[in-house]
Amino acid sequence: MKHMIIYAHPNPKSFNYAIKERIIDEIVNKGDEYSFISLYDEKFNPVLASPDFEALHRGEVLPDVAKSQAMVKEADHLIFIYPIWWFGQPAILKGWIDRVFSNGFAYYEDEKVFTPHLTGKSATVFITLGTAEQVLVQNDMELDNFMRDMTLGTLGLVGIYPTKVVPFYAIPKISDEERKALLESIVI
Ligand SMILES: Cc1cc2nc3c(=O)[nH]c(=O)nc-3n(C[C@H](O)[C@H](O)[C@H](O)COP(=O)(O)O)c2cc1C
Repeated sequence: MKHMIIYAHPNPKSFNYAIKERIIDEIVNKGDEYSFISLYDEKFNPVLASPDFEALHRGEVLPDVAKSQAMVKEADHLIFIYPIWWFGQPAILKGWIDRVFSNGFAYYEDEKVFTPHLTGKSATVFITLGTAEQVLVQNDMELDNFMRDMTLGTLGLVGIYPTKVVPFYAIPKISDEERKALLESIVI
C-alpha cells in the first residue's frame, strides 16, 4: 500500500503537526510506503491562474503541479491533514486541489461526458476544529454538512472512494492528556 500525505498547516508546534508525525510513524511501523508534501514548507502556489490554463491548452502541466500529480498517480491512498478554517480547508489546500486535480488528470470532461480518472484510490481526511462537537450539533452543523464539498464534491467526483473523515474537536480547549490520547487513537 502506498500512501500520499498532503499536509497543510503552517506551524510545527501545532496539533496538526503532531498528527502528521503520528501518521508517518504508523505507516512506517506497518511497513507501508508513503510520499509527503507539506504545502506551507514547499510554499506551494495555490492560485489557479492564466499560466495553468495556458499550459493546459498547450497540452502541458506546470512543474509544481506535475510533481504533485505524479505523487497522486503513484498513491493508492491519499491522507489529508489540515485544520478547519471557516468550515473549509486552508486556502493553500483549496488551491492545491484547484491546480492539481485538473481536467485531463483527475477527470476528463467535454461537452458530453464527465469521467473520473482517480478511481481505485481511497482517502482519509484528518481535520482539527476549534469547536466542540456538541456545539456543532446544537447549531445544525454536523460533520457531514461541511465536509461534503471535500468527500463528495471533490474526492468522490474524481473517483476517490471511500473517504473516511477523522475529526478532532475543540483542540485549543482540551488538555495535553486529552490531546495525547487522541494522537494515540490514530491508526492507519
Ligand atoms: C482562520 C481560522 C479560521 C478558523 N475557522 C474555524 C471554523 O470554521 N470552525 C472551527 O471549529 N474552528 C475554526 N478555527 C479554529 C481551528 O480549526 C483550530 O484552532 C485548529 O483546528 C486547532 O488545531 P492546530 O492547533 O493544529 O492549529 C479557525 C482558526 C483560524 C486561524
